[in-house]
Amino acid sequence: MGDIVLSLDRLSKRYGALLANKDVSLDLRKGEIHALIGPNGAGKSTLVKQVAGEIRPDGGSIMFDGQPINSLNTAARARAGLGRTFQVSSLIPEFSVLQNVMLAVQAQQGKTFRLFKRFSNDTELADQASGYIDELDLQGRADVPVSQLSHGERRQLEMATALALKPRALLLDEPLAGIGPAGSQHMTRLLKKLKQQVPILLIEHDMAAVFELADRISVMVYGRIITTGTAQEIKNNQQVQEAYLGQEAS
Ligand SMILES: Nc1ncnc2c1ncn2[C@@H]1O[C@H](COP(=O)(O)OP(=O)(O)OP(=O)(O)O)[C@@H](O)[C@H]1O
Ligand SMILES: [Mg+2]
Repeated sequence: MGDIVLSLDRLSKRYGALLANKDVSLDLRKGEIHALIGPNGAGKSTLVKQVAGEIRPDGGSIMFDGQPINSLNTAARARAGLGRTFQVSSLIPEFSVLQNVMLAVQAQQGKTFRLFKRFSNDTELADQASGYIDELDLQGRADVPVSQLSHGERRQLEMATALALKPRALLLDEPLAGIGPAGSQHMTRLLKKLKQQVPILLIEHDMAAVFELADRISVMVYGRIITTGTAQEIKNNQQVQEAYLGQEAS
């Protein structure tokens, strides 16, 4: 199908005796959020790490924009348009929100500056960065250093820097974790808006957010996807209730 951006075909990954992913196949289509849910230790992060190129699959293939990317390293996958958010440490704490996004825009454009002054005074770069800052609702915070941001705002900033790299797909592993109910609601609204622009493979334990956001949901249990469907289909699935949702509710 023409609208498939990312396609995983029978990915498998073993850690010693533990089969962390077993023949996992799923795809991500333009305009959608495809959520991957499942109990702790099911193998969700293991899957995302294989897609990002952090760890090598033992078997299976990954196609991105119609090209196999198994042999590309993480940097090459990022350049090819596979975006993801990193830990907070990828932000520069002494730099402002604006400067951090400017750095990402600069990286995307392959521009380099030898003088910090010249970088800071580049109004074109600043204008472009401001666009991403607005998109992530950080407009009032552009001049604030990262060290003074709340957790939720840092997440928004990480997302802004990820977007500045112009990804054609985004991998988000628990973007709502640790930002509190208000932060989660805010980020949920932002993700809903963002998916029009870039399809998102979303790993998340917050089921209210998943049911609100996801166009399709895949459920992983013990390294295998047991079913894929719409929010309604997943809510009504007896097997999913037993394997995961019942447990989360208790
Ligand atoms: N580097 C590693 N070496 C050995 N075992 C690992 C390694 N990374 C993960 N595992 C194991 O693989 C399984 C899958 O881990 P993974 O982190 O993918 O789960 P997850 O679905 O992301 O869980 P959570 O919801 O808690 O984040 C777990 O049993 C985990 O302990
Ligand atoms: Mg995980």
